[in-house]
Amino acid sequence: MKKPYEEIGVANTKEVFKKAMQGGYAIPAYNFNNLEQLQAIIIGCAETKSPVILQVSKGAREYANQTLLRYMAMGAVKMAREMGSNIPITLHLDHGDSFELAKSCIEFGFSSVMIDGSHLPYEENIKLTKQVVEYANQFDVSVEGELGVLAGIEEHVVAEKSHYTDPNQVQDFVKRTGVHSLAISIGTSHGAYKFKLKPGETMPPLRFDILHEIEKKLPGFPIVLHGASSVLPKYVAMINEYGGKIEGAAGVPEEQLREAAKSAVCKVNIDTDGRMVVTAIVRKVLMENPKEFDPRKYLGPARKELIEMIKHKNSNVLGSAGKA
Ligand code: G3H
Ligand code: 13P
Ligand code: ZN
Repeated sequence: MKKPYEEIGVANTKEVFKKAMQGGYAIPAYNFNNLEQLQAIIIGCAETKSPVILQVSKGAREYANQTLLRYMAMGAVKMAREMGSNIPITLHLDHGDSFELAKSCIEFGFSSVMIDGSHLPYEENIKLTKQVVEYANQFDVSVEGELGVLAGIEEHVVAEKSHYTDPNQVQDFVKRTGVHSLAISIGTSHGAYKFKLKPGETMPPLRFDILHEIEKKLPGFPIVLHGASSVLPKYVAMINEYGGKIEGAAGVPEEQLREAAKSAVCKVNIDTDGRMVVTAIVRKVLMENPKEFDPRKYLGPARKELIEMIKHKNSNVLGSAGKA
């Protein structure tokens, strides 16, 4: 049977995760909602020769239109090839919340989907995840499941409190669902306010002990880290300098992500850091040039800075540069 994603020119995650596991690095998964973000991701990853996962959330699909997104992804692959780059590109649904959404994305050419049943009771999470895996397997699409809850916003679920992934559940979950990768909760969270820190306090380290226990239970199995933005102080400062009001924002230190990338963590999700870059540059350009009204004049510089950030992540944090 012809796989819908072949038409887009994207690949599932099986090969790239296998190589990332062997090579001790992680594949970046960057979210996009618009043209400039997509261009920056492709250019940044092509220039650093890094495999990449293009992530689309339910909100992004609603914002950008499902048909337009499909052709944007197809165009992005073509653009990379025309640049002379052969990097593996995956088109992935981020935080899918229903079977119908996952099915629709598969039909539209996604090569990987996440079904996030982490907020459901355990048996219901298994049932939903298994249903998606059985459907996806017919089209060779990869499926990411999740166990444990990240604090912050998981799509439509606002989790007041995180609860870490229980290593004693992971074998049973993977075996009964047939899922191809697993997102875990070890202290990261979504958004710009990951930790409530008092002045002078530093962020508590990620629970590497839980990660290592999970690795022991699932040898060689790909693990995914959500909420992995570092909330780079440079851009927080720039946003505040140019009229924004971002206070008490804190992310995951890059050294900890570097350490995680060397383990079974094969996919690292980054959205907030890109949003911060775009907001910082757009604010700066507009404040410094109040007469400007051509979007290319502020979105262009934002895109340029985003390319640099992506190159930095691939080269200095995830270790994926040069691996494609
Ligand atoms: O984890 C969520 C991603 O950052 C996507 O966010 O639902 O606002 O598009 P979104
Ligand atoms: P951040 O908010 O830390 O960028 O996390 C993004 C994410 O996990 C997307 O699924
Ligand atoms: Zn996430």
